[in-house]
Formats: sequence, structure tokens, C-alpha cells
Amino acid sequence: MARINENFLKLKAGYLFPEIARRVNAFSDAEPEKATRVIRCGIGDVTEPLPLAARTAMKEAVDELGERESFRGYGPEQGYEFLRKAVAENAYPGLGVDADEIFVSDGSKCDTGNILDIFGGGQKIAITDPVYPVYVDTNVMAGNTGESDESGQFAGLIYLPCTAENDFTPALPEEKVDLIYLCYPNNPTGTVATGEQLQKWVDYARANDAVILYDAAYEAYVQDAELPRSIYEIEGARECAIEFRSFSKNGGFTGIRCAFIVIPKELTGSTADGERVTLHGLWARRHSTKFNGVSYPVQRAAEALFSVEGKNQIRKLVEHYMGNAALLKEACEKCGLAVYGGEHSPYVWVRCPEGMDSWGMFDRMLQEAQVVVTPGAGFGAAGEGFFRISAFNSRENVKEVCARIAKVLG
Ligand code: MLT
Repeated sequence: MARINENFLKLKAGYLFPEIARRVNAFSDAEPEKATRVIRCGIGDVTEPLPLAARTAMKEAVDELGERESFRGYGPEQGYEFLRKAVAENAYPGLGVDADEIFVSDGSKCDTGNILDIFGGGQKIAITDPVYPVYVDTNVMAGNTGESDESGQFAGLIYLPCTAENDFTPALPEEKVDLIYLCYPNNPTGTVATGEQLQKWVDYARANDAVILYDAAYEAYVQDAELPRSIYEIEGARECAIEFRSFSKNGGFTGIRCAFIVIPKELTGSTADGERVTLHGLWARRHSTKFNGVSYPVQRAAEALFSVEGKNQIRKLVEHYMGNAALLKEACEKCGLAVYGGEHSPYVWVRCPEGMDSWGMFDRMLQEAQVVVTPGAGFGAAGEGFFRISAFNSRENVKEVCARIAKVLG
């Protein structure tokens, strides 16, 4: 008899975004006329065309594969050196990140889930709430939690509430934890962390022998040069942090798939007997066993994003989405709603009108405005009472969404 991993049965609903898609499809079946008006501001999926620099590099790489002399088969699992070097030089200038500490992958969603392979069970894991659901769900699948309660919180995880009252800035855990998930600019609340705030986390992690899993997938949206874009800008972070980055939200690679993890060589974890082992070595073993690398044309396209043209094209994309975020924020504020985020992030986090819960708000926006948003409760119990609007869309659609918000909520 093939036994299943029963941890999966602890996951009550489907994964958030497919669940939203399911509800939108049900609405479309029931209301086919209204369905033609639907504008999707739910999942943070890019809409604007792929930067020219990336397309050109990808086409050239495909042509190289069409010639016997320049054909390539399997590439290095960790990623081609040309890309790892481009990342080290351009994403981490002066931060001492070596090309060898970079592992290229097919996405941060996979990386943030897969990283649990190298950590043992029975750890104390701190997770902000609300949070990108992958962190929670993959811990449930790995058996790191008990069952969930009525609010959806899983026994065994240490939740760090991020509320309007604490400016969506989680307090340090009161107890000693081993793993800490942080994401800045934050998905879903759109908040950013200052260097001083991150220094507290790094100091805590070093004092408690904990590892920070730092998701910086939205770093390109930081608008203030004083704010950190990488955890490695913080003193001591190389001893306690793994960073996740992606080409999805800056270069528009959500459909192309390319990302990377940085694991400093000096970062270690411990065996039950107290022996120190490098996490870099463990991840290299895991990555080369379970992954065969990102395709050559995609890695060439990612490399091209670091060219002068590529950087300019990314800047324009980010400006476009940030312009959308500003419009969405303004439209909600004009309706008297409390609005957060949207200044260093493509996400606008909005408090639901009085007396409405977040799935209720999702339904109302879909039924009355034909706009898909993400209910805050989908990101965790502390997200109840909020909804998230994604700024990833065309300007035309965003202007239309703003007009519909004014009509329905104004
Ligand atoms: C989101 O909408 O939260 C993100 O797009 C999901 C993702 O990047 O996987």
C-alpha cells in the first residue's frame, strides 16, 4: 500500500491563487456577460512585454543552440558562471557576495519552499502574519506543524502579527526561534524595512543561532536609496541569512522562470550533536541532486537584464507599475479607506470598509466591480479585514479599476 504524506491533509483550502481563480471561473460561468469585464488585480503577475534586452539575448542563445559548434546540453546545476558573475557584480556590488555563493533556479516560490529540504524537523519557526502563503504551506507539507485552528493558524509555528497598530512591523519573537522568514518589500502589506529594523533581526538571529530566510523578490521596487535592498547590507547578515531573489517582478520573468538564492559560505547550521555544517554545502548537494539547471537561453536573457539597456528597461517597467500603484492608492484613499503599501512595492494593502470581511470584500469587488483582488485572510489570520490590490497591469486597466472603485466604494 502506498502511504501518503498525511501532512497534506492538514491544508484545508487549496493554495490561495488557484482558489481565487476557481472562484473567478465560477463567477464567469454564472455571469458570462459580466465576466467579459473582469480585470485581474489578484495574483502579482506581470502584464507588460518582456524587456527587449532579454528577448534579444534569448533569441541569440536559441540560435547558438541551433549550431553544432555552439550547441549545449546540460548546464551546471548551480547556474552558468556568466550569470552568477553578473548577479554578484550587479546585484551585490561591494557586499562581498561571491559568484560561487549564488544558485540559479526557476523561481523564488520553488526556492523558498525547497529550502526546507536542508533543515531538520522539530525547529522553532517564526513567520510573519500576514505572509506569502508558500512559507506556511511548505512547512505544513514538511511536517513542521500540527493542525490548524479556526483562524487558519497552524500549531507549532510562531506567528508574528503585522498589523496597522504596529505599522506592519513585526516584533522580535519573545522566545528563541531557529528559522525566521522575512520578506521586504513585503508581500502582501507592501511595507519596507529600514536598515535599523533589519539590524535588530540580524542581531537577534546571531544571538540565538537562528537563520533568516530573506525573500527580496520585490527589491527593485524600493524607491529610497537609504532603504536596504539586500539583507547583506546589514552588518553580520552573512553569518545568519539566506537571500532569495527573482527576475520575475523586475524583468517580467513570471512566465520565463529564473531566480536565485544566495547562501554565504560561512553560514552554518548544526547537527543534533552540535557539529557545525555549512548550509552552502548542503544546498549545493540538494540542488545538484534534484535540479538540472535553468535553460541556457533563459540564463542569457537574465544576464542581459544587467546590461545598460536591460537596467534601463527594468527601470521603465518598475516606474510603470509604481505609477499604477500610486493611482490605486489614491483611488482607495478618495473613498475614505485606510491604505498601506504601494510606495516601495507593487502591492496596495487596503482596510476593508466597516463591517466587511476580506472574502466578503473579494466577492463584492468581483460581483459589483468585476475586479479581482486578493482577500487579506488568504495571507493569514492577521490579514483578515484587509484586501490586496496588485499594481501589475496595464495603465488603461488600472485607470478603469480606479473608476470602478470610485463607483462601488465611493
Ligand atoms: C503574489 O501574488 O503574491 C505573487 O505573485 C505570488 C508569487 O509570486 O508566487
